[in-house]
Amino acid sequence: MAILNVADINARRLSAKVIGIATVFTILLVLYTFSSPSALSFFSSPRYSQPTCSPKAYSNGSWAFRLRTEATALSNKDDVLAFAGFEGCASSREYYWHLAADNEEQYDRFPGATSYEWIPGQECAGLRVLDPANVVRDLVEEGGWLLVGDSVTENHFFSLSCLLYPHVIATPNYTANPYFDRAWPQHLYLNPASPLVPRLSLPYGFNITSTPLVTFRRIDLLLSQEEIITVHAKMNPSNSSLFSDEAVWTLPVTEYLDVFTAPLPTANYATMVVSTAGHWTATLFSGLRDESEKDEGYGIRGVIALFNEAMTHWANEVQERLWKEARGLGVAKGDRTKGNRQVVVRAYLPGHEDCHSYREPWKEVQPFVWNWYNWGNIWEYNQVFERLLSARGKFPNIHYLDIYRPARLRPDAHTTGDCLHIMTGAGVLEGWTHYIWHYITKELK
Ligand SMILES: *[C@@H]1O[C@H](CO)[C@@H](O)[C@H](O)[C@H]1NC(C)=O
Ligand SMILES: *[C@@H]1O[C@H](CO)[C@@H](O)[C@H](O)[C@H]1NC(C)=O
Ligand SMILES: *[C@@H]1O[C@H](CO)[C@@H](O)[C@H](O)[C@H]1NC(C)=O
Ligand SMILES: *[C@@H]1O[C@H](CO)[C@@H](O)[C@H](O)[C@H]1NC(C)=O
Repeated sequence: MAILNVADINARRLSAKVIGIATVFTILLVLYTFSSPSALSFFSSPRYSQPTCSPKAYSNGSWAFRLRTEATALSNKDDVLAFAGFEGCASSREYYWHLAADNEEQYDRFPGATSYEWIPGQECAGLRVLDPANVVRDLVEEGGWLLVGDSVTENHFFSLSCLLYPHVIATPNYTANPYFDRAWPQHLYLNPASPLVPRLSLPYGFNITSTPLVTFRRIDLLLSQEEIITVHAKMNPSNSSLFSDEAVWTLPVTEYLDVFTAPLPTANYATMVVSTAGHWTATLFSGLRDESEKDEGYGIRGVIALFNEAMTHWANEVQERLWKEARGLGVAKGDRTKGNRQVVVRAYLPGHEDCHSYREPWKEVQPFVWNWYNWGNIWEYNQVFERLLSARGKFPNIHYLDIYRPARLRPDAHTTGDCLHIMTGAGVLEGWTHYIWHYITKELK
């Protein structure tokens, strides 16, 4: 018994020691892990050891009702900011249109339209809390965003200008001069008067007044029309004109890659966010139009086939440029931990037919009834990107984000005049910012 007791005491002492050592080791491990991001990869790939929220997991959720204000009715169009939970918006372009407060007949949409919150799917773990101050910090310290796309991407830019207000200033000033063409770049700069400024570490060479945090470029097709004509000529050597005279804004890839990769103080972009599909129709691409295929979208198959070739060309050109840049910096091929810029392709979205008759989100995505525009085919354009970018090792810096489901469930979140554009403050555009920010600062690290 005595022997047993001694053994027992010894065992307890021993286990106390073991626990003590284990505790110290754990604390050291935790300190080491959090003090040095590169240390993570020493133990195991952080992609597996940390909680993750993939685009699919994020999207597999639902909208929950949550009022942001006590007010129950919109009486003045400026009240819409409080309904949406914003202090203001830095951008001055089509201000009340973006906020869907430009039509009194639709004031009954408030506060409903701005009172839903996206609850991500259960598999989504570790999603960063959307804190505008932290987004500003990352845009300054980790690098800015270049938004490339059509007018729906411009919706996203406007929403960012509200989310980050008053820490950012937007240019140009459309109140002073409303006549800037759509091709004109729009920027968000750090507001020198923001209380965040003293707490930020500005990168060497960063100029508060001239280095943008976010830029929007109106580039509807991701390639210039000339580039698309060249791609088309390789598929089909017939010489007929491909485009109608429908208005379109677009640029050659190299031109905006020069913008994306420009050095400080001109720019400090780390991420390019692109989205396209809405302008890839059989009316703009009238050379592919086929009146005999009315039920199949007037030759939309040909447009999608060309889209596939054009986006393959685009992805090769973008990845090649980023590899070239990384080689210049002495970074090994495929190493995304150092100096490498990232490109995310945000899935494109169709609109909602008869959207203004809805006053709440859907629980499940509903099928189209009339097949307006190319809406019924948008999933196929997205699938082109999904397939293309899933090729292992081919496009390590380009990522497809299929986060369209939250928006697909919001027929009530459109602007007042049409059913494609999305209003600021409904949580849809803000959700894009939230997830993209999480993805590049956490999932890709
Ligand atoms: C979506 O979430 C539900 C639970 O809320 C789960 O049963 C289902 O498997 C998830 N689907 C996917 C594709 O992850
Ligand atoms: C934009 O211009 C208007 C009219 O000139 C002026 O009142 C306003 O202060 C300007 N806004 C900013 C943010 O400078
Ligand atoms: C920052 O940019 C502004 C506007 O381009 C310029 O006037 C200023 O001289 C720059 N500051 C520095 C420190 O380079
Ligand atoms: C296509 O035809 C037009 C006139 O019919 C001609 O000017 C143009 O050079 C041709 N293009 C090509 C690529 O052959």
